[in-house]
Amino acid sequence: MAGHAAAPSIDASLAGPISRAAALVAGARCVVALTGAGLSVESGIPPFRGPGGLWTKHGEPPLDGYQRFLRDPRRSWQERLSPSEGWAVALHETLAQARPNAGHLAFARLEKLGRCDALITQNVDDLHRQAGSRNLLEIHGNHRLLRCIGCMRRFAEGELAIDPQELPPRCPDCGGIVKGDTVHFGEPIPADVLRGCFEAVERADCMLVAGTSATVFPAAEFPFEVLRRGGCVIEINPYESELTPMATLSLRGPGGAVLAQLAAEVAAALEGAA
Ligand code: APR
Repeated sequence: MAGHAAAPSIDASLAGPISRAAALVAGARCVVALTGAGLSVESGIPPFRGPGGLWTKHGEPPLDGYQRFLRDPRRSWQERLSPSEGWAVALHETLAQARPNAGHLAFARLEKLGRCDALITQNVDDLHRQAGSRNLLEIHGNHRLLRCIGCMRRFAEGELAIDPQELPPRCPDCGGIVKGDTVHFGEPIPADVLRGCFEAVERADCMLVAGTSATVFPAAEFPFEVLRRGGCVIEINPYESELTPMATLSLRGPGGAVLAQLAAEVAAALEGAA
């Protein structure tokens, strides 16, 4: 995995659209971001769909993942502790080695500039957190955390002793079953995170959408909700997505380079206005 290819550069024709996007972000009342797997591609993590996607290669996982967990949590834990399925092994390895890229760092910079009031990510890879983003809503969970399905308490790595002889682990607070924080297909999104997402979307008059095919709900609904309420939506994606026809601006380039340029221009605009 060492020696990643140099970050893809951006086409000169994007200069004007990026400046327009920067002006929208700098002038907005409340900016909220939505990110997906594409943002972590430049960190070496494959997307799910499209060229080189995990599901494209290994097929979509069963949509009743959560029901399977509830039926046999011990077996699911054994699979978690030593994954056997092709896609799980591949994902496990890349997640362990991945580091934030210029796209993640750009969102952390926008937050410091007061231009990212909330960041909703569909990614479980922890890279936004490692990049320094704090207004974070991990709608599909975080692969480094555990969560009690009874009281929803979350546990950081190492906070809960896992005894392979005593699976599934139990919550020290309520005795509930503990699972990985990653939201399985078929599992309800934890209420605290979902509420945070709806509240953020309601406040936003500008949404930055980076690296998502906008195909999985409820996250895919959020940009359309911002548009319905008269806000603007700026998409960053090298390829067209479900959102492209509706977006206020669609920046057709790689997340890392485009977002780094966008954040730099927002910083300059705010400095100029100061
Ligand atoms: N920069 C930005 N976007 C990129 C890049 C890049 N370098 N490379 C690819 N993309 C775009 C693709 O064009 C695609 O539109 O990222 C998107 C990735 O789409 P998906 O693989 O469908 O990922 P995502 O939208 O996050 O999937 C949503 O589906 O399987 C579930 O739980 C999983 O959170 C995931 C959800």
